[in-house]
Amino acid sequence: MSRPPILVALDTPTAGEARGLATSLAPHVTGFKIGLELLMGPGPSLIAELRELGRPIFVDAKLHDIPNTVEAAARQLGSVGARWVTVHAAGGRAMMDAAVTGLAEGAEGEQAGILAVTVLTSLDDLTEIGVGDMIAEQVRRLTGLAASAGVEGVVCSAREIGVCRAVAPDLLRVVPGIRPGGVEHHDQARVATPEAAIDEGADLLVIGRAITLAPDPAEAAARIGQTILEGRGPGG
Ligand code: C5P
Repeated sequence: MSRPPILVALDTPTAGEARGLATSLAPHVTGFKIGLELLMGPGPSLIAELRELGRPIFVDAKLHDIPNTVEAAARQLGSVGARWVTVHAAGGRAMMDAAVTGLAEGAEGEQAGILAVTVLTSLDDLTEIGVGDMIAEQVRRLTGLAASAGVEGVVCSAREIGVCRAVAPDLLRVVPGIRPGGVEHHDQARVATPEAAIDEGADLLVIGRAITLAPDPAEAAARIGQTILEGRGPGG
């Protein structure tokens, strides 16, 4: 049986904590996400280390710079084994093209793909950054741009899965902001349960605190995974 489509966000300050969590969770999930905190702390060598567990690593670097710089950064991340790397779609098509090229070169034939972040879930008023459109319209525009740049997928909130699916059905939809029923929402505003997000068309769920802060993270991951696999039904 395939593993549940969960990428656990290892939002910890130290490599030791990330390693401990990943080791206990590896049997229950598809892979792991490391973000800016671990990249700025222990650094990219942790990607290669975590890869030893045999699971893909999603590097949430949210790159946004001139194409040449992003290409070079993506190449470095590809060379240490990142399976997915995020960039901001707002960086433009040339920047996303450069990221795709750099990552593929660094990965040297290993599977690797760029995921484009459309609108951060923490933003709720785009006028303050000079964008007059509603969020859904901006997500629509940036998803179309990302698709034309050859990225593998987009990161979107559960609320925007339908928009992304309509604009670019072939892109992978990676969805954070997941909370199983009865679990604390923390700072996430637009949450969905794992089953609802999968029903809407999410391909991979990014889940952090609902697993990592549970009294028994491995048990929580197994339970959430079971709910997803049961919700899919036979043949799902
Ligand atoms: O703990 P929680 O499940 O809320 O963690 C969600 C993870 O997904 C965090 O690492 C957060 O940075 C990330 N994320 C997000 N919203 C986005 C992109 C990434 O919550 N739009």
